Amino acid sequence: MEDSYNIAVLPGDGIGPEVMAEGLKVLDKIKVAFNVSCTIKEADFGGIAIDNHGEALPKSTLDICKSSDAVLLGSIGGPKWESLPPSKQPERAGLLPIRKELGLFANLRPAIIFPQLTAASPLKEEILKDGMDILVVRELTGGIYFGSPKVREGDKALDTLVYTRPEIERIAHVAFKAAEQRGGKVTSIDKANVLTSMVLWREVVTEVGKEYPNVKLNHLYVDNGAMQLVKNPNQFDVMLCGNMFGDILSDEASMITGSLGMLPSASLGQGSFGLYEPSGGSAPDIAGQGIANPIAQILSLGMLFKYSFNRKEIYDSIFNAINNVLEAGYRTKDIYTSGNKEVSTSEIGTLIADSL
Ligand code: IPM
Ligand code: MN
Repeated sequence: MEDSYNIAVLPGDGIGPEVMAEGLKVLDKIKVAFNVSCTIKEADFGGIAIDNHGEALPKSTLDICKSSDAVLLGSIGGPKWESLPPSKQPERAGLLPIRKELGLFANLRPAIIFPQLTAASPLKEEILKDGMDILVVRELTGGIYFGSPKVREGDKALDTLVYTRPEIERIAHVAFKAAEQRGGKVTSIDKANVLTSMVLWREVVTEVGKEYPNVKLNHLYVDNGAMQLVKNPNQFDVMLCGNMFGDILSDEASMITGSLGMLPSASLGQGSFGLYEPSGGSAPDIAGQGIANPIAQILSLGMLFKYSFNRKEIYDSIFNAINNVLEAGYRTKDIYTSGNKEVSTSEIGTLIADSL
């Protein structure tokens, strides 16, 4: 009997629909190669949902997500919606609520450097000679993004950084469990030398760590962590971060791999349900030109099969297909270096699908 999955597909704005088309091209290939059947339900989300339904996260879209086994998201936002009041904009009225509504507190962002792309990295080859394979585990539904009060009063404005023990415990468990399956090391990122919430963070992470005797734990202040990432990225295995520090450090880590367009992500809750999206955003400046890199979207599809459907072999074959295409010298503009062949978004998508 073949497996059957329900996937909600939210292409979104900017380069979202372009890279999603390549993700779906790869999905079509997966269906045949692995004999899986998928029911796809597409819905508007983000700016396009504001245009078509008057809000970034319409109830109909949320319902489709809730009735699916997993959500594949492109990216949302763009200049067209930046003049709206902040509370109506796609990011605040779409992305943050969908994460919260679906209980997706754990955001996994694997920053892996393909050896063929060392030259595309802004770091010296010497620094990358031992490779880089980091999993950023970012807390996604708490911290300063969601803490209240959050107030604007004329020329005074404030956000609140709050974490509670249960919130820290559950994300710490995710990080330690991931480390057990990988390099056996967790580096917890905080600012415990200044912020009270981060003193609690460090205490709780240390306690949870005692339950994982096979995992080595160290702690770095976020400023030092940002510096160490460019000095010696290979020292990291799992980086455990609160919401804002994880946002910042995952962008930094992704750029080391050559491009923001290489970084996929999985956002998970307690069960197998998850939302999968490239970490890089809607890149409105390059939308519609056929130059966006769809690899983060395609890897996000791979993560969907690995984490929501427990099909690691599908993730592996997607990863290998990407590796083969890079090995053959094909590059989108963002990761192009001389001597290679520059191809469009859809060309690289086809090459990857064909190489499965
Ligand atoms: C990300 C993005 C979002 C975030 C924005 C668009 C709200 O930067 O997913 O990293 O800060 O979480
Ligand atoms: Mn970000």
